[in-house]
Amino acid sequence: MTAHPVKILFLASEVESLAKTGGLADVAKALPLALKEHGQDVRIIMPFYKTINRHDEAEKLLDLCLHTGNDCQDIDYAVYQLMLEDVPVYLIQQHNYFERDQLYSEGEFAYDDNGERFTFFSRAIFQVTEALGFKPDIFHCNDWHTALVPYLLKQKYGHHPFFCNSKSVLSIHNAAFQGIFEKHQFQLLEDLADGLVDQILDGYNCINLLKAGIRFADKINAVSPTYAEELLTRLGSHGLCDYFQQRRSDLVGILNGCEYSDWDPATDRFIPANYSSSDLSGKSVCRQALQVKTDLAQLDVPIFGMVCRLTEQKGFYLLLPALEQFLRHRVQVIIVGTGDSGIVAELEALQQKWPDKLRFIHAYSNELAHLVEAGADFFLMPSLFEPCGLNQMYSLAYGTLPIVRGVGGLKDTVNDYDEQPEQATGHIFYDPEPADLLNILRRALLLYLEHPEEFQAMRHRAMLSRFNWQQSVWQYEALYNDALNVNSIQQP
Ligand code: GLC
Repeated sequence: MTAHPVKILFLASEVESLAKTGGLADVAKALPLALKEHGQDVRIIMPFYKTINRHDEAEKLLDLCLHTGNDCQDIDYAVYQLMLEDVPVYLIQQHNYFERDQLYSEGEFAYDDNGERFTFFSRAIFQVTEALGFKPDIFHCNDWHTALVPYLLKQKYGHHPFFCNSKSVLSIHNAAFQGIFEKHQFQLLEDLADGLVDQILDGYNCINLLKAGIRFADKINAVSPTYAEELLTRLGSHGLCDYFQQRRSDLVGILNGCEYSDWDPATDRFIPANYSSSDLSGKSVCRQALQVKTDLAQLDVPIFGMVCRLTEQKGFYLLLPALEQFLRHRVQVIIVGTGDSGIVAELEALQQKWPDKLRFIHAYSNELAHLVEAGADFFLMPSLFEPCGLNQMYSLAYGTLPIVRGVGGLKDTVNDYDEQPEQATGHIFYDPEPADLLNILRRALLLYLEHPEEFQAMRHRAMLSRFNWQQSVWQYEALYNDALNVNSIQQP
């Protein structure tokens, strides 16, 4: 590793505590803070959305204008700064693009100029860093929103004195979202678009931004080792297999860490009683509180919890048919989330059929998420794919045994009872079939009822498992180092 701090510009479309729609935001906060703590000079850059609630604290640094150089008008914008602990966050304020009610969509409909919005953001990043005199060693890009930056770095700024030594790393949090937009949205790329278009076309008329990142980033990482492997397969790469295959020597998997300062049952402020692996009495209090809160009877039956976005990715089309059968047993199931209206309707219908056993809470609530983690006995994550997943790590820490599909980060963090009884921390099924999920649910239930001492041993072991950011930070530093030692990327 280089002796001096690495200068890292962390590019994110959302950052926890400022703007969040999913797990990317958690990482975009925790990883820069951990890198900073490890002595790196890291700064975050993101859009200044209207929804960011710390507006008043933001300090204005610059007024800038992006000269587009073609028929488009020049674009005025401003740069603000906020501190996230000791990490500076640069916020790009542009009225037309970011003064909106949501980050990317209105209800279920994505804004129809998202391609243009993030092209602007990506171009502005170069102007801002130069104006601030912050010369990044590494542009750390995340998902499609900032995947154009590696392309710009290579094609536009490759010989620019300020940027010619900078390298780019692209983290893939979810390759199912690729940023595919019609070509006309890329006018802000000016003449550059021509060179780019042939290489990252999607169909006849669209550009795929994630492809640009995969093609041009110096190094790429997926957010778990298993997801990195899956991205090299036809089945697991969301159609990008050939692109990832071409970059396979530059692709690694780095597991996300878990924020135990927010998710530790011994210190959690959202739950009615704290507990730890050496004294679980508080967990029974949480369990009762969860039953009261969700209006379920105070029965001594196992509680299966689930908290997530209601999307196909999370495995609802496996879960709904499996629950039809599983709810015949003496169990309680609590599902919390918002999202797809079709899934909402199906969960509501199922709840009507099993009002004493299934509770669906149509809400996004951090507080309730903590209570479910603390009060349930099992946590459900039957995802079709899961790049890393955070809830299973929280569940482990809370002694709420995860029942997961063996994909991506789920496979890397949970040890299955049948495969590794001595190290078991949960239950894994593999085939994406409702029958396989039902089977694992029943096996988990049987173990709970008939081998309580085994269940307790698993719970204890789960609570001791740790996925610290420290580990990931070392791996990211090694990746930055590799990127900095690359002279130029191998053109696939
Ligand atoms: C995305 C993925 C999730 C991952 C998160 C953070 O939301 O779907 O699996 O944990 O990004 O990397």
